[in-house]
Amino acid sequence: MTSSANKGAVLSAPLQGFTTRVWRAAHASVFGGVQVYYAPFMRVEHGAIREKYITEVQREGDVPNLVPQVLAGTPIEMRLMVTTLRDMGHRRIDINLGCPHPPVALKGRGSGLLARPLELENMLHALAAIDDVTYSVKMRLGWDDETQWRRVLPMLQLINPVSVVVHPRIGRDQYKGVLRINQFESLLSEATCPVVFNGDITSQQQAHDIMARYPELAGVMVGRAMVSWPHRFAPESLELRQAYCDFHRLLLEGYAQRLQGGPHQLLTCMKAQWALLLPDADRRARKAIAKARDMGQYEQAVTALLSSL
Ligand SMILES: Cc1cc2nc3c(=O)[nH]c(=O)nc-3n(C[C@H](O)[C@H](O)[C@H](O)COP(=O)(O)O)c2cc1C
Repeated sequence: MTSSANKGAVLSAPLQGFTTRVWRAAHASVFGGVQVYYAPFMRVEHGAIREKYITEVQREGDVPNLVPQVLAGTPIEMRLMVTTLRDMGHRRIDINLGCPHPPVALKGRGSGLLARPLELENMLHALAAIDDVTYSVKMRLGWDDETQWRRVLPMLQLINPVSVVVHPRIGRDQYKGVLRINQFESLLSEATCPVVFNGDITSQQQAHDIMARYPELAGVMVGRAMVSWPHRFAPESLELRQAYCDFHRLLLEGYAQRLQGGPHQLLTCMKAQWALLLPDADRRARKAIAKARDMGQYEQAVTALLSSL
């Protein structure tokens, strides 16, 4: 697997509902240009891991450079997920310390853990005791205070992370507002492990500019823009219409195979992809996709949109 600590690496961020197994395969086949794909988090519900989370990160048939992610609120949950993933053959696992969703964070999960250092420390001890895995961490600066990272960062040495991806906002910011760059720079100067920047990157040029501005970075991670305009991060220039036709067909075929709920479920899933995909494409065609009542109407609307590219 390519290490995320490679200089200049562009990593694909985890986006629950978007960067699925189906998306990763389609993306890698049509666009590429990504050194590591982070899978959206898995979690424990009522003491167990739902089958859908396991299927999503089975290694067979997925991209080889995949890192699964866990979102946990207790050492027991951490242990269950990490040992399960390890037994599936994963050797590198990402710890989610960034999720800003209040129902998650207020229960001491995701970015909520950044405000609960004692609980976090217990979890890190539990992780450090598991053999045969290495960790990375994906974090924000804090939950409700942009300096909370100061207590957390030294603690992360307990698990000796391969890299720490930092989204320079706090949980309370959700995904909006100006990035807190001053705090990010302080964090970067104090970090003893490789740091990856994540936040609001919308082009390859921007990715290069950030890496030029902070040469000590191990790479950048791109989330929403990678889902919205994947061609922008492709290593070579592509014939846009053909690339998006191929990509869409792979998504459609992949989800048709993956989902068990028939055409209605497929339609709902495909429409949801367009919440982020090509947001500046022809407005009328996008509206027609949102309004499609069956797969026939949907495919017609997509054809119209793609031919307008
Ligand atoms: C719909 C959505 C789902 C997300 N799911 C996850 C997730 O499962 N795990 C995670 O660590 N971050 C998740 N994130 C955060 C992204 O990985 C990323 O950190 C964030 O979007 C900022 O990067 P960007 O500005 O490049 O999009 C999610 C973000 C969005 C918008």
